[in-house]
Amino acid sequence: MLGDRAVNPPVVLAPMAGITNVAFRRLCREQGGGVYVCEMITTRALVERIPKTLKMIAFAEDEDFRSLQLYGVDPDVTAAAVRMIGEDGLADHVDLNFGCPVPKVTRRGGGSALPWRHKLFGRIVKQAVEAARPYGIPLTIKMRKGIDDDHLTYVEAGLIAQEAGVASVALHARTAEQRYSGKADWDAIATLKQALDVPVLGNGDIWEGSDALRMVEHTGCDGVVVGRGCLGRPWLFADLEAAFTQGADYKPVLPVLGEVAKIMSRHAELLVDALGDEKHGCADFRKHVAWYLKGFPIGGELRRRLAMISSLAELDDLLGKLDPGEPFPVGELGQPRGRVNAPGKVSLPYGWLDSRDDDSVPEGAEMENSGG
Ligand SMILES: Cc1cc2nc3c(=O)[nH]c(=O)nc-3n(C[C@H](O)[C@H](O)[C@H](O)COP(=O)(O)O)c2cc1C
Repeated sequence: MLGDRAVNPPVVLAPMAGITNVAFRRLCREQGGGVYVCEMITTRALVERIPKTLKMIAFAEDEDFRSLQLYGVDPDVTAAAVRMIGEDGLADHVDLNFGCPVPKVTRRGGGSALPWRHKLFGRIVKQAVEAARPYGIPLTIKMRKGIDDDHLTYVEAGLIAQEAGVASVALHARTAEQRYSGKADWDAIATLKQALDVPVLGNGDIWEGSDALRMVEHTGCDGVVVGRGCLGRPWLFADLEAAFTQGADYKPVLPVLGEVAKIMSRHAELLVDALGDEKHGCADFRKHVAWYLKGFPIGGELRRRLAMISSLAELDDLLGKLDPGEPFPVGELGQPRGRVNAPGKVSLPYGWLDSRDDDSVPEGAEMENSGG
């Protein structure tokens, strides 16, 4: 459940900056049920009604549960953003991002650095929940385990958020220091589930429907949040739905290359539609090409040309050269995709670790532009 909304199957498309726009969400929604979160939006940019930000929160008419993620560090600005969402009817669900590990964010005390300042964290969440309440908008948070293994915050932060009245808590079971490296620590999800009464969503390293079932079994979590696994594989949501409805014996969804090509073509069309013209739509689509074709034996030249397309006609012409009957490369199943970068020391503001109780708002941590 998310507020009074039953989420079935219990699957959430993770917010991914630069990826989970209206086009990608539609492609994924067409595959299966769940909640599909938009790209992260900065609270300040929203309240200042920056045109680019307002464009980023476009939802399709048939999105009946419009889910929006906010990034903020200031309780008042965050509450103002949530109120604006309620007043203007911009979304049906708001998630707060406390998981971003990007140095330009943590260096200023935002994202995954913020829960360490537990009082400030509590104020942000509480004010956001209170701002959302009159509009019946469920407010959730998404966080990491902590800054690093010596500075874990997830259980404490989960309890604070629960006390503040959140509808659920999602844990990406890595520290900020880990970035996207190593394995997600599913035991931490189990620990959080034990500690909280509100629903806990598990996140990290779900590459197939079977991984989602394993995570639920291992942790007892109430649902799963899926990010990189669906890059170039929107059908993962059909796979997840099959897994949750049929159980461990479900038949994995394995599209042949012809089916993948059709989805690629549709993705590019939806992006052209969403971004307003062929130039921008095709440019954005290029970053998805390698993910779609990972493991298919199509040759370097065609792969290279597909990654450089500048029109839908060119894309369809090149896709027409693929062997439609080529079976899905099963060697790719269960393999990490997308970001897998190395761990790195977390940049923090001076004295951050020694000032846990300080609840002042860190300066300059609100990025003007959305993304991350
Ligand atoms: C390209 C990219 C962009 C991301 N952007 C966001 C974001 O804006 N907000 C957020 O909470 N997490 C963001 N994440 C993290 C994912 O939501 C997710 O927590 C993470 O990828 C771990 O899940 P996974 O193993 O299923 O990928 C991003 C991840 C990637 C790969």
